[in-house]
Amino acid sequence: MDRIAIIGGARLEGVIPISGAKNSAIKLMVASLLTDQPLTLTNMPRLADTRFLGRLLRRLGVEVEERESADGPQTTLTTPEIVSAIAPYELVRQMRASFNVLGPLLARTGQAKVSLPGGCAIGARPVDLHLMALEALGARIDLNEGYVYAQAPRGLKGAEIRFPAVSVGATEHALLAAVLAHGETVIANAACEPEIADLAECLVKMGARIEGAGTPVIRIVGVAQLHGATHEVTPDRIETGTYALAAAMAGGDVRLTRTRPAMVEALLAKMEEAGVEVRRLDDGLAIKRNGSRLSAVEVTTDPYPGFATDLQAQFMALMTLADGESVIRETIFENRFMHAPELARLGADIAVSGGEARVRGVAGLNGAPVMATDLRASVGLVIAALAARGETVVDRVYHLDRGFERLEEKLSTVGARVRRIRSGDEELEAAE
Ligand code: EPZ
Repeated sequence: MDRIAIIGGARLEGVIPISGAKNSAIKLMVASLLTDQPLTLTNMPRLADTRFLGRLLRRLGVEVEERESADGPQTTLTTPEIVSAIAPYELVRQMRASFNVLGPLLARTGQAKVSLPGGCAIGARPVDLHLMALEALGARIDLNEGYVYAQAPRGLKGAEIRFPAVSVGATEHALLAAVLAHGETVIANAACEPEIADLAECLVKMGARIEGAGTPVIRIVGVAQLHGATHEVTPDRIETGTYALAAAMAGGDVRLTRTRPAMVEALLAKMEEAGVEVRRLDDGLAIKRNGSRLSAVEVTTDPYPGFATDLQAQFMALMTLADGESVIRETIFENRFMHAPELARLGADIAVSGGEARVRGVAGLNGAPVMATDLRASVGLVIAALAARGETVVDRVYHLDRGFERLEEKLSTVGARVRRIRSGDEELEAAE
C-alpha cells in the first residue's frame, strides 16, 4: 500500500488549479444511463472513485471513453442499451454513490437489482430516504439477501416527495429517477449542495425539465426521453477548501484558480475569523498568512450553505495550532472524528465527546507515522503534517486517491515537501 511522507515547515507560494468536483462527476456519470446518446463531461477529475464507477457502468452497458484534450480531461459515456440491470455487491461496496444507479436503471428498464451499500467508516449511512423517494414514484421495492429489487413495469409516476431529513444522495437519486417519470414531481426539503444544481443543469441540457435545483423545493416535469449533451463538471469545493486550509496551516501566499469562492463561503468566513487573509477573486481565491498565530474559532457542520462536513477534519487540523480552544461540532455523520486520535499522535490536544470535539491549540506539532481512516480525514492529517516539525508518514493513502487528484504534485508545486512512497519502493527499501 502506498504511503505519503511530508516534511513540515515549508511556506507555500504559488498557484494551485482546482479540479472538477468528485461528488458532481460521479452523479453526472450515472446520468449517462438515462439516454442512449453520448454524454460528454469536461473538467473531469481523474480519481479512484471515477474509475470504480466506470467499472460498474461498463458492466451495465455504458461505453466509457476518456480523453485528454487541450481543454483538459474529458469523459464520454454512451449507453446504447442497458445490458444488465444488476449492480453487484463487490462493485457497490467500493463506492456508496454507485447505489444511485438504481433510479436510472429503473426509469430506463422498469426494473433493477442493486446491492445495498452497507455502512462505512464515518457512519451507518442508511439508504431509507433513497428508497422512500423511489417508492413515492411508484416503484415496488423488495429487500432480499442484501439486495434491493425494484420494479416499475409501467414506468415511474411523478409524485410529491417530502424528505423528513436533508440528504444529498437521496435528493440526487430522486432527481435522476423523476426526469423520466410520467407527470410532475415535487421534491420538498431537498438538499441545496452545488453538486445538485450541477446535476440538474446537466440533465436540463439533456432535455429534462427541472426548476429550483439548489433550493429546498425542486420541480420536475417528466419527459419521454433524454438526449446527449456536453457538460463541464463544477469545481471541487472540498478540494478548494482543503488547499485553502493547507495554505493557512503552512503559511505563505497561495492562489487557487478555476474555482468559485462562493461555494466555500462558510469556510472562508471561519478562516477570516481565525485571522487568515482571504481574497475572493473572479476565477478563484487567494489565501495569505504570515507567521502570526491564528485564533481558535468554533465550527458546526451543516448542510449547504453551512460549514461542510467534508472540510471538518481539515479545519480541525488548522485549529490544533490556534491560540485558545476551538469547539467543533459534527452534525451530519455520527462517527466522523477518527482523525482526532491520529492528530493527537502529532501532539494535538483534542477531547472528543459524542458529536463534539474540543481542540486546545498547542505551540507546535511533531511529525509521526499516522494512519488515514477515510478520504477527508487523511487529507486533514496531511494538512497538520505541513506544519509539524520533522517527517510525518501517512499510511493507507488509497483513501486520498479516491478524491484528490495528484495531491502530492499540486502541493509540491507550491513548495511543500511531499513525496509518495510506492508499495513497490517499500519492498525495495526492505530488501536493501
Ligand atoms: C454526500 O454523501 C457526499 N458524498 C459526502 O461526501 C458528504 O459528506 C455528504 O453528502 C454530506 O454533504 C457524495 O456526494 C458521493 P447524505 P451522502 O445522504 O449523499 C443520513 C466525501 O468524502 N441519511 O446527505 O451519502 C446519512 O446517514 C463524502 O466525498 C439517512 O439517514 O450524504 C447522514 O447522516 C463522504 N438515510 C445524513 O443523512 C438516507 O437514506 C446526510 O447524508 C440517506 C442519508
